[in-house]
Amino acid sequence: MRISFSKTHPASRSGRVRVRFFSKEDTDRIRRSLKKADTDPFSQAVRGKHFKGEYKNVLVLFGAAGGETLVAAGLGEHKDFTVHRLRNASAAVCRRLKKLKAPRAAVELYLSEGASEDDCVSALLEGLLLGDYVFERKSKKNGSPALQVTLSGVRASRARTLLDEAKSVCGGVRLARELVNENADVMTPERMAREARRVAKHHGFPARVFDEKKLKAMGCRLHLAVGRGAANPPRLAVLEYKKGGRGAKTLAMVGKGITFDSGGLNVKPTGHMEDMRLDMAGAAAVLGAMEAIAALKLKVNVVGVMACAENAVGSRAYKPGDILVSYSGKTVEVLNTDAEGRLVLADALAYTEKTYRPDYLIDLATLTGAALIATGTHYAPLLTRDDDFRDRIQQAARETDDRVWPLPMDCHYLDEMKSDVADVRNMGRNRHSGTIRGAVFLHHFVCNTPWAHLDIAGTAWSWSPGNHDFVLRYATGYGVRLLTRLAQIIS
Ligand code: BES
Ligand code: ZN
Ligand code: ZN
Repeated sequence: MRISFSKTHPASRSGRVRVRFFSKEDTDRIRRSLKKADTDPFSQAVRGKHFKGEYKNVLVLFGAAGGETLVAAGLGEHKDFTVHRLRNASAAVCRRLKKLKAPRAAVELYLSEGASEDDCVSALLEGLLLGDYVFERKSKKNGSPALQVTLSGVRASRARTLLDEAKSVCGGVRLARELVNENADVMTPERMAREARRVAKHHGFPARVFDEKKLKAMGCRLHLAVGRGAANPPRLAVLEYKKGGRGAKTLAMVGKGITFDSGGLNVKPTGHMEDMRLDMAGAAAVLGAMEAIAALKLKVNVVGVMACAENAVGSRAYKPGDILVSYSGKTVEVLNTDAEGRLVLADALAYTEKTYRPDYLIDLATLTGAALIATGTHYAPLLTRDDDFRDRIQQAARETDDRVWPLPMDCHYLDEMKSDVADVRNMGRNRHSGTIRGAVFLHHFVCNTPWAHLDIAGTAWSWSPGNHDFVLRYATGYGVRLLTRLAQIIS
């Protein structure tokens, strides 16, 4: 997609697509002024159709006066306006334009008293860029041309800066989506590590990759156990971006990178395995955020850690009943090989805390199916015992619309993962509070750093078309924008 800018709204031109956003009140006003002469083609269109500016509604009108195609996009009631709505409506517009196979479109900037002009421009641009991504592997390409958009009503010099920023952020989201959507046979732990190296090299910061030999020497036995049944060996990738200067705080972000989760010997049943290439979405979000942070040249200190392994069924696979010694020295009773994410994360979190002594430590993981039961696909459960860190994460979530919702993890829960024979068990004694217990397990492996866990099992993936705001299906790229913002808030 190519995006250019103009201060004035362009004159009507036959064959062009023109886009305008409407609040409900905007459409009411047009209807009320029925008697006055109003030659604006959009006014005619809005009058003639039952388009009331409802949020998520997009009206297309072919052959308006002057031979233009008009696209009217609803934002809902004025009191409900947020830049997030504008971003989502803009993504919906982008998808519709692609469907129309329009080569060119003129989009008018929408402003609202509730938000600054910069924020509106950014939201609109991000919507276009995020909505432009589709995952499709049809043998016959649909052949739609690259879209050229002119955004009108903006100062070009300022808008170009905002476009550069939007491209940096959305580039990170796109990367995360592509990594997750790719077949698990291609996006192996090794390949994930290679992607990490590529991003680091491109932006000129160091990356370290640990293979099985190194993981063994380090004592990451949980991580190794999870990866042992697979032909594709495990990897731990660590990226260090230190541009914050002295005094700046360090945020370490750790991602679950299970490139395919078959469940292991506790194999998943049909109906529960088909989407399990999504199980590295945490690691993908971490890499996407590193990419965005570096492209934006943020003056922050971040460490990105991707704990990658394939959880396979095989003759060498780790077994239910195994008792393992973790990197931290704590022992773990494996009761279910399908609770593997917490195992790789336990080693990665302990390693990261010990090696980098970060000021804040966050992990993102598609950890439990119970997260989908708790908050569905719109909010990611947030678990932390640190009030200050929770506030900052919630602020980043509010500002990006990568939504989070806190779940409790107080003293009542902390004993629930204790094992009779080992220090901890990797699965609860019954099905209660599965998401909290996943976090409680991880809690045993972080000593005293402010730490938070985000369970992105529901938000990383669009399970049905239209369910998610700016992606049609599969990988959403959830977490990239949240982490990028969090790095700024913390520094
Ligand atoms: N990767 C899954 C969690 C998951 C489920 C992610 C659905 C996305 C959608 C995870 O490794 C898993 O299998 N967790 C188990 C844990 C249980 C065995 C304690 C679960 O949620 O059932
Ligand atoms: Zn699993
Ligand atoms: Zn998993």
